[in-house]
Amino acid sequence: MCGIVGILGKHEVAPIILDALKRLEYRGYDSAGIATVNNGALDRRRAVGKLINLSDLLVHDPLRGKSGIGHTRWATHGGPSVANAHPHQAGRVAVVHNGIIENFRELREELSAEGASFSSQTDTETIAQLAGSLLEKGRSPVEAARETLARLKGAFALAFLFSGEDDLIVCARRGSPLAIGHGEGEMFVGSDALALAPMTDRVTYLEEGDWAIITRSGAQIFDAEGHQTHRPMNRINVEETRVDKSGHRHFMAKEMAEQPAILQAALGFYSGLDHDGIDLPDGLGFAATDRLIMVACGTAYYACQVAKYWFERYAGLPVELDIASEFRYRNPVLGDSNTAIFVSQSGETADTLAALRHVKGQVAQVVSVVNVMTSSIARESDIALPIHAGPEIGVASTKAFTAQLQVLAVLALRAGLDRGHLSEAEFATLLAQLRSVPGYVAQALDREEEIRLLTESLSQARDVLFLGRGVMYPLAQEGALKLKEISYIHAEAYAAGELKHGPIALIDKDLPVIIFAPHDALFEKTVSNMQEVMARQGQVLLISDAQGFADAGEVPTRLQMPAVPEFIAPFIYAVPAQMIAYHTALHRGTDVDQPRNLAKSVTVE
Ligand code: G6P
Repeated sequence: MCGIVGILGKHEVAPIILDALKRLEYRGYDSAGIATVNNGALDRRRAVGKLINLSDLLVHDPLRGKSGIGHTRWATHGGPSVANAHPHQAGRVAVVHNGIIENFRELREELSAEGASFSSQTDTETIAQLAGSLLEKGRSPVEAARETLARLKGAFALAFLFSGEDDLIVCARRGSPLAIGHGEGEMFVGSDALALAPMTDRVTYLEEGDWAIITRSGAQIFDAEGHQTHRPMNRINVEETRVDKSGHRHFMAKEMAEQPAILQAALGFYSGLDHDGIDLPDGLGFAATDRLIMVACGTAYYACQVAKYWFERYAGLPVELDIASEFRYRNPVLGDSNTAIFVSQSGETADTLAALRHVKGQVAQVVSVVNVMTSSIARESDIALPIHAGPEIGVASTKAFTAQLQVLAVLALRAGLDRGHLSEAEFATLLAQLRSVPGYVAQALDREEEIRLLTESLSQARDVLFLGRGVMYPLAQEGALKLKEISYIHAEAYAAGELKHGPIALIDKDLPVIIFAPHDALFEKTVSNMQEVMARQGQVLLISDAQGFADAGEVPTRLQMPAVPEFIAPFIYAVPAQMIAYHTALHRGTDVDQPRNLAKSVTVE
């Protein structure tokens, strides 16, 4: 959600912290701030809105000091304002925080009764006030931080900076990730390794419940019980953390364009070209599984919805699928022959992580499909499968979706073979189809100019309806989600057959209806639904293939995709789902990579 960073450096840190915050801005951009220790005193600058506002402020009013902490915010408690922006300061301590302090009201009342005066509506200020009051009572900075941490309930990552302490940051991880970076006579803290990548490639990940005392000479790490502990140092591949737009106008454009190359390379990790099988990590198998449970949020949830069709069709495996924020609260019935699969690009989504913790110990195996292998979800699952998409920065997920689909397709095929549901020949045919995906996705991307023109009128719409059947229903949902996220046009998706049960009342000449309908077994039925829309003057855009257009009759607007086997169609139709939203957003002039109110990594429930 929010991004935090801390540096004990050799040089002026404000510009370096600003740069690190840029790399964390995908986590939130409601406000940003930096605090430093300058000549022994705490100093800070904070600004509402994107980082650029803080950057402007620093030009006019620079911040000096070689040690500091910084924050980019996605508002939870208290709206976006300077007063609510981090770092929060109380007396001799400043704090940056990612997460939620659940008992902040109780602490706030207690501190107010002691005379503390609060200047924000945030839960974070409570942490600063509590640590500040402990310092006033004579505790050392480390003691004040440790005692404060002991009083906090909730999920968080924190960094404390103290006046009079030019060589000290105390940080803690409970529920939200935190990485410590090791430099030469410099030390760093960040919400993820991405933030630290330009400064160091040596990173230690704090474990759940850890806290650490950081000085320029190193880090002392303590576990949840307070015992000093050792956590391994990892070398990160700096190439993998490159986050530039490579000449594209937006990260989203770059990430859409990367899909063919990513899919091609990523498949190689599961099925090398030199053999015709699928390799999965030892211990992962589906032969003894009686039911799959799939849990995710947002775009990852739609990838699971596509995969449900695949697992049922190609592996004969019953699948139960749920949105993570609902799953835990409905008393799901779990069995020790179930396999649970959690899908998450970031691997940090709080709802998905909580759902994973809920099933642990109650099912045979807990599998995750993630983009970040050092994430909490990856680390807490029995087996983590990387999607190998590389850093995804655009808040609207694109390449992670198709890369998630690919890993789930690999699992479905292998499950089909292991369970005897697919013959060797059927398996080989489907695997060959999967290998052809990158080429077809590239062909779909080539329709960009056509999509750009089509979206000119779409960008004037107030509402848009997306329809699809079978595997195209989740694609319609993904198309509607993308459009809402980045163009702010209200969009809904319906299973095409459900149209007549209510949404048809919405159809009139002003309602664009986008229909995903490759020429597959369900095509005729979807076309009947399209006729129902056209009979009521709805503005149809049919996305299909050559055979589909030959059979569909007169259609007002069409977008032709390559003809592909049914199994791989979701990959190809993901491209128009993404690109329609992208070009509509461009026509409307919205902020494509950082749409309002959203954050890429949602680490609060
Ligand atoms: C946020 C993002 C979405 C993403 C969802 C799940 O809402 O804006 O793009 O699909 O979180 O994120 P995850 O990292 O778990 O895939």
